[in-house]
Amino acid sequence: MKCFYITTAIDYANGSPHLGHASEKTLTDVIARYKRHMGVPVHFLTGLDEHGTKVQQSAEKKGISPQQFVDEVEPLFRALCAKLNISNDDFIRTTQPRHKKVVQECLQRLFDKGEIYKGEYKGYYSVRQEQFVTEKERLPDGSWPEVYGAVTEIVEPNYYFRLSKYQDWLVDFLDHNDFVFPKFRQKQVVEFLKDPINDLCISRPKNRLEWGIELPFDSNFVTYVWFDALINYTSAVGMFTDKFEECWPANWHVIGKDILVPAHAVYWPIMLKALGVPLPKGLLVHGWWHLSGQKMSKSVGNIVDPLAIADQFGPDALRYFLTREMNVGQDADFNFDVFLARYNGDLANGLGNLVSRLLNMTGKSFPEGLPGASADGNLERDLKALWEETRTGMLACYEGMAFHTALEKIFVFVTALNRYAEQRAPWKLAKSKSDDDRILFETSLATMAEGLRLATAALAPVMPGTCDRVYKLLGLSEVGLWKDELSWGTRLKGNVMGQKTILFPKPEIKAEA
Ligand code: MSP
Repeated sequence: MKCFYITTAIDYANGSPHLGHASEKTLTDVIARYKRHMGVPVHFLTGLDEHGTKVQQSAEKKGISPQQFVDEVEPLFRALCAKLNISNDDFIRTTQPRHKKVVQECLQRLFDKGEIYKGEYKGYYSVRQEQFVTEKERLPDGSWPEVYGAVTEIVEPNYYFRLSKYQDWLVDFLDHNDFVFPKFRQKQVVEFLKDPINDLCISRPKNRLEWGIELPFDSNFVTYVWFDALINYTSAVGMFTDKFEECWPANWHVIGKDILVPAHAVYWPIMLKALGVPLPKGLLVHGWWHLSGQKMSKSVGNIVDPLAIADQFGPDALRYFLTREMNVGQDADFNFDVFLARYNGDLANGLGNLVSRLLNMTGKSFPEGLPGASADGNLERDLKALWEETRTGMLACYEGMAFHTALEKIFVFVTALNRYAEQRAPWKLAKSKSDDDRILFETSLATMAEGLRLATAALAPVMPGTCDRVYKLLGLSEVGLWKDELSWGTRLKGNVMGQKTILFPKPEIKAEA
């Protein structure tokens, strides 16, 4: 079976990982894990974008070489992946020989086909954005928008990629294909293409920027960082080798809304078209996280450190929050009070409480193994019916990228399980001498355990560590394929349950964001 190939953007290696990076990797990981639970072979790529002016400047500031600089940054991003339990199969760095080789091969092929030509550029250049800017972008008072930082006028020979030649093709392609999810983002691309696009300057003279991949046909130039970076998606899976077709075309490039236009939705499809390579099947575009309503930015100093949160509350608490609070495609807000409310409400008092209640009772009354459910009352029937509904609903949500709604549905079920525990009150039934109560007592624990197992299996893409832990506490190995895991059954009967466990300890102090 051809693999399901999914990628994140590759992060700029000029700073530390932040919540935006954590969230994109988590979202991609949820999809990758969901697919694996569905029995689909997955290839999941993430990595680092290591060339360009910003890295060169940051290295200069530190008084070290750009290579040394990125070598120091790389472990931080790898640590983020490890901490958050990201199940990437590969981690690409654009300074790796495997990548540079493919970028140069792409450039040479495009040059040989006449898709790249030499021209002269006279214009305004933004160092911060690493791009040329046009008069159109000037503000009414003649200054440049703040996002561009310092803008200077330069004249230099450069190489251009014939982007404009493919504009009509791209418009037509978008007219006939669902390429961007959610749909309203594709409309933004179409809107962008209503104005004529220019050819893309894909070189930088070495006297201005040395830190890049040298053009194979002119050693005085390095490659524009976006032209280099986009190719990571193909270089990582063996472009120009026999292996390439095992993964390519990618199923999803998961990216933020800021890098859709023009990079991923215009440059990238046209680069591939010009090379004669199939396009990826889709771009999955997420919104941005804000912090209590404000844009997160280095200058404001309000960047959330995902590692600190994962250290304090556990990686799954962060993964849960990021998935529960983001409607993919829309922006979301990171508010620490909301985080704590979710942690305490859904995780500690919801899932965590269910686990400790169950294990407390089984530990005391059935240390030799979980009893079976021999009674089938209304409460049990209602729960089973709710599970059927939950399963159908959450599967549709996972498939439709509505992960926040999938979690909402699963937690309605978790709440119903806790309610069931209160209604059946096994702690009271345990004290009764009647045979009927004994049967109900056993049934209630078996029902709680099976319900917990199902909720856990359904949560596995989002909270993999917790779910494996709960499965072990239920006497099972890790959560397997969903075709075997999601039906109400009796497989827990006789299993020795683990010791009472607090999955989500209450934080002692109200932490600061
Ligand atoms: N290096 C480029 C991508 C090249 S892909 C061929 C880049 N890097 S980045 O580090 O600035 O951003 C990496 C990803 O993180 C992007 O998809 C971006 O949208 C995402 N995010 C950065 N800040 C974010 C938030 N505050 N919220 C959510 N995602 C955000 O762009």
